[in-house]
Amino acid sequence: MEDTTKDLLSQAQAVINLAASQEDLENIRIGFLGRNGKMNELMAGLLHVSPAQRGELGRVLNQAKREIELLLSKKEEDLLSASSNLYFDPTEPSIKPNLGHLHLITYAAREIMDIFERIGFVRVRHPEIDSDYYAFEALNMPAGHPARDEWETFYIADNLVITPHTSNGQVREMEKGYLPIKMINIARCGRRQSDVSHSQTFHQFEGLYIDKGVSIANLKGVLEYFARNFYGSGRQTRLRPYDFRFTEPSFEVDVTCGLCGGSGCSFCKGGWLELGGAGMVHPKVLRAGGIDPRKYSGFAFGWGVERTYMMKAELSIPDIRILYKNDLNFLEQF
Ligand code: PHE
Repeated sequence: MEDTTKDLLSQAQAVINLAASQEDLENIRIGFLGRNGKMNELMAGLLHVSPAQRGELGRVLNQAKREIELLLSKKEEDLLSASSNLYFDPTEPSIKPNLGHLHLITYAAREIMDIFERIGFVRVRHPEIDSDYYAFEALNMPAGHPARDEWETFYIADNLVITPHTSNGQVREMEKGYLPIKMINIARCGRRQSDVSHSQTFHQFEGLYIDKGVSIANLKGVLEYFARNFYGSGRQTRLRPYDFRFTEPSFEVDVTCGLCGGSGCSFCKGGWLELGGAGMVHPKVLRAGGIDPRKYSGFAFGWGVERTYMMKAELSIPDIRILYKNDLNFLEQF
């Protein structure tokens, strides 16, 4: 009978080892330890042995039973920890959560604002969907004027546009009725253009300064201040004549290339990089905002946030649209 017990034990060991689920284990437990199980069968045999042997055999059987119970509960533990994390080990090193950061464009907008704030400009916000009036008409571009073509505008309704530039904020700011005005309007814009250097969605920041006696010299000074603080002390700006309907005179602003210092290289092709438009606020625009152009004058500039920032980082991104693709491989580099 001792041999049979040993056999039973090694049988139990083998099947428990092979068990793959809690259900397997339960069936094994019933087969060996259940009421009609193999263990009880052996126990029943005790009736037929002499009382002298019964005690010793009983102990052997009980020992075997305990061993099977132990094997079962060990295996149960193994199965549990393999199949789930039910066992919480507080000493285990934790999984480091992924730390994100703000989007490149948000960084750029903040950095730009920081610089203008130091010389007294205040950030304001104006609608990103606005009426035709503020986007064009109040800016000396009446309905049907060919100059509008340049803005490749998305019309939402007859009179509503996705603002194609931040200049819609100019007359809106004037209408608030305070002077002097020293604002920076940073906003999302939209134009119907999409290629490697244009995205349908982009951002602009618009500066507007209106006071008594504001001149082109003031404009030039502010631009120079911005270029040196944003791009580095060695940088210079220049004004090139241009034409906008809402400024007179109008300029394009260039800054010297950071890679070659202005002598010309393959990045800048000619030593200068174009920042964007600027000019002295047109008297008609001042009047539209309720300001008397005989008493007050001002300058305005409006540039692309993405473009301005890419020029700083000397990033030649092969396709500007990647800024809007939420591509982590790209964004995580910054
Ligand atoms: N709004 C013009 C543009 O989108 C830029 C500009 C702003 C020009 C202010 C002059 C003054 O191109």
